[in-house]
Amino acid sequence: MDKCIAVILAAGEGTRMKSKTPKVLHRAAGLSMLEWVVRAARGADTGKCVVVCGRGRNEIENQFGDTVSYVEQAERKGSGHAVMCAEKELVGFDGYTLIIAGDMPLLREETIAALVNAAKEGNYACTMLTAKLDNPFGYGRILRNELGDVTAIVEEKDATEEQRMVTEVNASCYCVCTPLLLECLKEIKPANAQGEYYLTDIVSILNGKGEKVGAYIADDACECMGVNDRVQLAQVSEILRARILERHMKNGVTIIDPKNTYIDADCTIGQDTVIYPNVTLEKGTVIGENVTLYPGSRIENSSIADGTTVQNSVVLDAQIGRETTVGPNAYVRPNSMIGDHCRIGDFVEIKNANIGNGTKVSHLTYIGDADFGEGINVGCGVVVVNYDGKNKFRTSVGDNA
Ligand code: UD1
Ligand code: CA
Repeated sequence: MDKCIAVILAAGEGTRMKSKTPKVLHRAAGLSMLEWVVRAARGADTGKCVVVCGRGRNEIENQFGDTVSYVEQAERKGSGHAVMCAEKELVGFDGYTLIIAGDMPLLREETIAALVNAAKEGNYACTMLTAKLDNPFGYGRILRNELGDVTAIVEEKDATEEQRMVTEVNASCYCVCTPLLLECLKEIKPANAQGEYYLTDIVSILNGKGEKVGAYIADDACECMGVNDRVQLAQVSEILRARILERHMKNGVTIIDPKNTYIDADCTIGQDTVIYPNVTLEKGTVIGENVTLYPGSRIENSSIADGTTVQNSVVLDAQIGRETTVGPNAYVRPNSMIGDHCRIGDFVEIKNANIGNGTKVSHLTYIGDADFGEGINVGCGVVVVNYDGKNKFRTSVGDNA
């Protein structure tokens, strides 16, 4: 059978975020919400991935390049209208279309795959992902008949008192038989409290056609969380971080205080490394084995080799060798390469410089635009003068100086 086409809805205004940045580009644990969703869809082995963009299309395109296709929803007329905008990407396809809201970064690829499986097994026209929530406020509620089939979804704003008591909610992730989807889209009307074309109406439309709609209840309800404001963004970030930390801990990394450790997606950490509280690792940082990261360090897009210790320091776009010590309070800036068995001590700043193996820069020093060889001892308070106000100059110091 053909792979599914994924349509990811990313055109909503995101009014509740109160931001100039499009909602789905807000970041959680190092990736935009949209990137989390696109990765989950890809991980579930979907084929073409279509992103419906509104405001901020350029930013979205800059981020994803030609890894996905784009369609534009020029006016925000609701989630149903958003899918209508993707119609030309779907005509003629007779497999399943997976529709996923771009604001649900906790959704995992395993869950998408399970949803597609449920669709195939139950032979449903549409299978939707749902969750049972203690507090379903704000979500569309799932209405079922005596047989357990889903008959309709009713939005919070349109629901009766009784319907609001339903705790099973719509996650905004659907696996729909494409030809039927295209038929139903034509029949959606903006007859509701918000005057929008609700995608959720396809459920009652399908029922009217005598088609069956099924629901797959997520094992972990949190995966269905949609982010509408920054309070929810913080909540999903916390969960994403916890997942990342758990993966590293299971791989043999000691994390002293997981609640206060911030490791973004895509970082690598070797066995027996120990991470103290208030350490931040960002942008694909690679940490070796037996590294000790003491409190208060931020390391971005850098690599730190085995056995090195970093204390209360900032390291950006740099490479640090083995068995080296950095800090406390060192600042290693972009394009720096520090060798093995070095010491970069307190109040030392290194910028765009190479520091050879075994060289010690123990205190109160600035080294910028320079090549320092091996085995050098740099005394306290050394300043490399690299700038005359107009030009930058490069300095070199030989081995064992
Ligand atoms: C939607 C569902 C609701 C579900 C909830 C789960 C509808 C009508 N309601 O409500 O049943 O419980 O998600 O989080 O679908 N979007 C567009 N264009 C638009 C409007 C929305 O692309 O014109 C996108 C948004 O970017 C977002 C998604 O569709 O990714 C959902 O929109 P949102 O406004 O967040 O819907 P909810 O009110 O949360
Ligand atoms: Ca939402």
